[in-house]
Amino acid sequence: MPKRFRTETEKKYLIDAIDAFNRRLLIISHDHRILAANNTAMEDHPENIIGKACYEVIPGCSAPCPNCPADEVLKSGKAALRYDQCNDFSGSMDMLCLYSYPVYMDNKLDALVMLDFDLPALKNMEERRIRSNAFLRNLIHSAVDGVIASDTTGKILIFNEAATQVSGYSVEEALNDITIRDVYPEGGAKEVMRMLLSDEYGGEGKLISYHIDAKHKSGELVPISLNASIVYENNKKVATIGFFHDRREEIRMQKELDKTQVQLLQAEKMASLGKMAAGVAHQLNNPLGGIILFTKLVMEEYDLPDEALKDLARVLDDANRTKDIVKELLEFARQTSHDMKPQDINDIITRTMFLLENQSIFHNIEIEKDLAKDLPNIMGDAQQLNHVFMNTILNAADALEGTGKLTLKTRFLTEKDMVSIEISDTGSGISADVLPHIFEPFYTTKEQGKGTGLGLSMVYGIVESHGGSIRAESGPDVGTTFYIELPAAQDREGGSKIG
Ligand SMILES: Nc1ncnc2c1ncn2[C@@H]1O[C@H](COP(=O)(O)OP(=O)(O)O)[C@@H](O)[C@H]1O
Ligand SMILES: [Mg+2]
Repeated sequence: MPKRFRTETEKKYLIDAIDAFNRRLLIISHDHRILAANNTAMEDHPENIIGKACYEVIPGCSAPCPNCPADEVLKSGKAALRYDQCNDFSGSMDMLCLYSYPVYMDNKLDALVMLDFDLPALKNMEERRIRSNAFLRNLIHSAVDGVIASDTTGKILIFNEAATQVSGYSVEEALNDITIRDVYPEGGAKEVMRMLLSDEYGGEGKLISYHIDAKHKSGELVPISLNASIVYENNKKVATIGFFHDRREEIRMQKELDKTQVQLLQAEKMASLGKMAAGVAHQLNNPLGGIILFTKLVMEEYDLPDEALKDLARVLDDANRTKDIVKELLEFARQTSHDMKPQDINDIITRTMFLLENQSIFHNIEIEKDLAKDLPNIMGDAQQLNHVFMNTILNAADALEGTGKLTLKTRFLTEKDMVSIEISDTGSGISADVLPHIFEPFYTTKEQGKGTGLGLSMVYGIVESHGGSIRAESGPDVGTTFYIELPAAQDREGGSKIG
């Protein structure tokens, strides 16, 4: 630019303005000698600084700096910025920022301007930047969800603590040994990328609350809800970041809830069916008594042909069988009137087995009794508890069809304060479609005349009214186990003392 004429007034204003400038401004020669300086540069120096080396005046420099911006300007002819840490005059590490630009005269580089920055303001900014970086790092690392960021090649850049839980990899392993493809099952990472690029899943470059599986180091698939996005820099894809929310606990709780709901429905159904059964049983009892009485009378009082007597004997048999069923029904309905006393479960099981063991159906069945020593008593009705074991053990014998093993196990569950009883057989097992119904009244898979379907519903009612629980586990080839839990009596006196 051609030199412009300036009036003396204009020149004076320019000099005043440079003096009023609150940063140090030095004009130096090629060999770093100060040719001119503004007031701010002279402030800390009572002596005359003209002719001195710039590094003697600029705080933080006591010798020529290794990366002096003025040297840079001399080399390139263009403005240069130096921006790094050095010892300031108070001896502490500080930021120093120097800006230098050339002054040309007759197309020749004549002098250089050296300008130092407003250091306190810059220091503050830098501190704030460092602090906010640390804050962000903290935020990512303490996040509840797994945070995994990877570059466009799949190399993992960020991997927080929660991500180690979901994936099983340590932070070191994630950053050095694996890629983003390893945290998904085969093809998963590609699928996520495809969805990120499409705009159907929360907008282009985004994926919102998508249910997918992550792959644990052990090979286990971990159900997650994924929020992910593409990170752009200057309109270029540079990375992807994913927030992995582990859904295992959520799924477990949902299952628990579903189970409780089914149990509730079951209990309700059983209560109403139980009432109805009791009503029907009462109504049937009287006419049944009549049928039996009068059949006997006819058989005895009249001189009937053998054929007729045979038929009547059949009537009597069936009527007696019906009476047994009615008796069971009434038993089933009687569940609320207990004679509650402290009972030793081991004792009750031993007595029930004593009655059953010698029956022919048990001859080829191996019986294992694994009864806990020092089992606390429970409060219960001995007769009803007898029913519980009689029914479950007879069911096991039916399933065993003469051979196999029956195991009876008792334990004290200290934490729950419950007595547990396990009745296992190696029999035919219960199929998945039958299992949910076994406790229902009248539900039986046995041929007509063999089963009433009342046994387990009675057992269920008795266990419930004793404040306990019962459930069955079974598979077609593994046999069946019934788990019964009954609350231990508060009064522990007189518990089992086996062994
Ligand atoms: N230990 C067992 N092994 C296999 N199936 C069983 C077992 N216990 C019960 N079941 C099944 O549960 C059904 C209901 O049992 P239950 O109420 O005692 O009636 P029932 O014995 O009269 O059939 C049985 O018909 C059978 O299908
Ligand atoms: Mg039965």
